[in-house]
Amino acid sequence: MIKKRSGRKQCSLPLPVPLVAVVLLICATYKYILPLKVEMVGWPAQLLPLALNESNRVVIQDFFKPYDPAYPTSLPTKNYYRKINLRPLAPYRTSGANFSAWLEEQTSTSFEKLLANIGDSSYNSLREQGVAEGAVIASPSKEKPDYFYQWPRDAAITVNTVVSNLVGSDKAVNLTLAGTIVKYLNNSAVLQRVPNPSGQGVGGSDPQLKGLGEPKFEVDSSAFTGNWGRPQNDGAPLRLIATFHFLQRLCDAKVDLKQLIAELQGQGQGQELRLSFHDEESLFETLIRYDLEFVTQNWKVDSFDLWEEVKGHHFFTSLVQLAATKQGLHYMKTHGRENDPLAQKLQQAANKLNDFLTLEGGFLNPNKNYIVETPSNLNSRSGLDVAVLIASLLTHAEDEGEGSSPHTNLPFGVNDSGILNTLHSLVSTMAIIYPVNHQRHSPRMGVALGRYPEDVYDGIGTSEGNPWFLATSHAAQLLYQLIHKMYADQADLEIPVNTWESKFWTSIFEGFEEYPSGGVLAGGGDYRLIIPYKSPAFHQTMVSLLNYGDSFLDKLREHVGEDGSMSEQFNKYTGIMQGARELTWSHGAFWSSSHVREQVLPLISSPN
Ligand SMILES: *[C@@H]1O[C@H](CO)[C@@H](O)[C@H](O)[C@H]1NC(C)=O
Ligand SMILES: *[C@@H]1O[C@H](CO)[C@@H](O)[C@H](O)[C@H]1NC(C)=O
Ligand SMILES: *[C@@H]1O[C@H](CO)[C@@H](O)[C@H](O)[C@H]1NC(C)=O
Ligand SMILES: *[C@@H]1O[C@H](CO)[C@@H](O)[C@H](O)[C@H]1NC(C)=O
Ligand SMILES: *[C@@H]1O[C@H](CO)[C@@H](O)[C@H](O)[C@H]1NC(C)=O
Repeated sequence: MIKKRSGRKQCSLPLPVPLVAVVLLICATYKYILPLKVEMVGWPAQLLPLALNESNRVVIQDFFKPYDPAYPTSLPTKNYYRKINLRPLAPYRTSGANFSAWLEEQTSTSFEKLLANIGDSSYNSLREQGVAEGAVIASPSKEKPDYFYQWPRDAAITVNTVVSNLVGSDKAVNLTLAGTIVKYLNNSAVLQRVPNPSGQGVGGSDPQLKGLGEPKFEVDSSAFTGNWGRPQNDGAPLRLIATFHFLQRLCDAKVDLKQLIAELQGQGQGQELRLSFHDEESLFETLIRYDLEFVTQNWKVDSFDLWEEVKGHHFFTSLVQLAATKQGLHYMKTHGRENDPLAQKLQQAANKLNDFLTLEGGFLNPNKNYIVETPSNLNSRSGLDVAVLIASLLTHAEDEGEGSSPHTNLPFGVNDSGILNTLHSLVSTMAIIYPVNHQRHSPRMGVALGRYPEDVYDGIGTSEGNPWFLATSHAAQLLYQLIHKMYADQADLEIPVNTWESKFWTSIFEGFEEYPSGGVLAGGGDYRLIIPYKSPAFHQTMVSLLNYGDSFLDKLREHVGEDGSMSEQFNKYTGIMQGARELTWSHGAFWSSSHVREQVLPLISSPN
């Protein structure tokens, strides 16, 4: 077995391969692949290879058992028999300190740096710089570029991350973080009521609440009146996602919002915590209702994308709108509000948005196996965009605890082939266009990712686009979340063996090209690779996905500051950080990724 693996042809390495790389590869093979076999010892005998009879199923129980004719995979036609294998781990890793130790430290540093960008006088002094309590600044950078503003989108994504850390391993709600979240909600209600260049908000005479599409506010929560790409209709739905996440977490922890607020108010060290709501009902009427109304009235309208550049319909915006609508509906139904006219409007919007996303919107294009972020822009761009991955992650969180899941039936989860192929295409393209990745070009090796291939924003102005911390972190998170989902579903992994629909999986497995697609066998159709749940092969595949995810974070290790700082981007030639320093979203994305990883580690290490 050993001889077979280390002697495998290394088709993917660029030639000529320096001898040292080969040596490294062999060492890495021994170090990272062989230990897998040790973990398999002790698998119950009944899980070991069983032949299946369906003609187009390629069932693999164990990648590290040599082919045994007594236990063939289910293939009928010997001609086509080639065993699909896991790809070997690529040899490249950042040298130096222990990855796990680095990750642990960077994770806690990132969370601290994230909190440093939220106005909360109980632990930082942003208030002295005029930042409202509960306002999330995008970055402390005030010039070149000036990001010292609050964006409802970035703020909601950030607070959603804080919510993920709300309940500790002791199952208790962290009151410091709860205080921050409550202040954020209170400040959000203020922003909803500030008339601004997008329109009037709550309390004005506009029934469509256009003001809730405003992308950006001053740090003191007054309106930003400069020119900007308006509207951006993803802020309100993201705020809903963060808010429902918070309420779900409290519910799982059996904490009532009213009591929590009373407790926070009781704590106030001499300062009164004045809020515009005092329990869940009043939070709904003060804040949630208006965001829901806004989404039902405005989802059809063209708006600027999350990168604030293109006006139109965007996969990211539509998917977060659909998720917020469904979560809102679920919430209303489970909280005695099913007869409210808003519930009916939500139901209609959810149905239409679902059709728009899956059929009419053009996000699925027959000529592309990845999802197109902005179909109206396909004449000038490829449509590839990391926004697609971020949308899937934000709307299909798997760290929800025991609570009921409003996410069921929401399309474009992390196992969707379009989502996974988007990751694959981003990696293949960016491995080439960013020179900092050239050393790492090899399947199943994470690379630094940017927003989209045609990007020219350099962090201050326009020249050439670069890799971003948040894009690279979210790629890792997608892989971790995929593992999480596979264990949660407890189903066999079933993959059509073709290099179109399952392109992503060709970075994990090799040998797909040996199986012709379509129509060869009785019943036609593709071969299907089946990896039975809980088989050794299932575990081996999950380990492979984990290592692939880690290789993205490991790449970031080369580019973060000595003190764990992360700006927005790093130069594609030099690897040096540039753009807004300590970007809140960079730290939030890194933390979220690592947080999901922490949750999957125990699943992988104890497969029973
Ligand atoms: C194939 O296997 C199924 C169970 O997995 C069994 O019900 C069926 O009879 C088998 N068919 C043949 C032709 O052996
Ligand atoms: C790496 O760091 C982790 C976490 O700090 C520690 O548990 C582990 O023993 C370290 N491994 C090595 C090889 O130093
Ligand atoms: C609550 O979270 C803050 C910020 O991460 C942390 O410093 C503090 O130790 C946590 N408190 C508890 C009781 O875990
Ligand atoms: C909450 O918002 C109200 C305005 O609705 C404001 O007066 C109050 O100071 C805010 N509370 C905090 C803690 O900032
Ligand atoms: C993704 O998972 C869902 C179950 O949560 C399943 O119904 C669906 O078929 C899976 N999709 C793919 C492409 O595997």
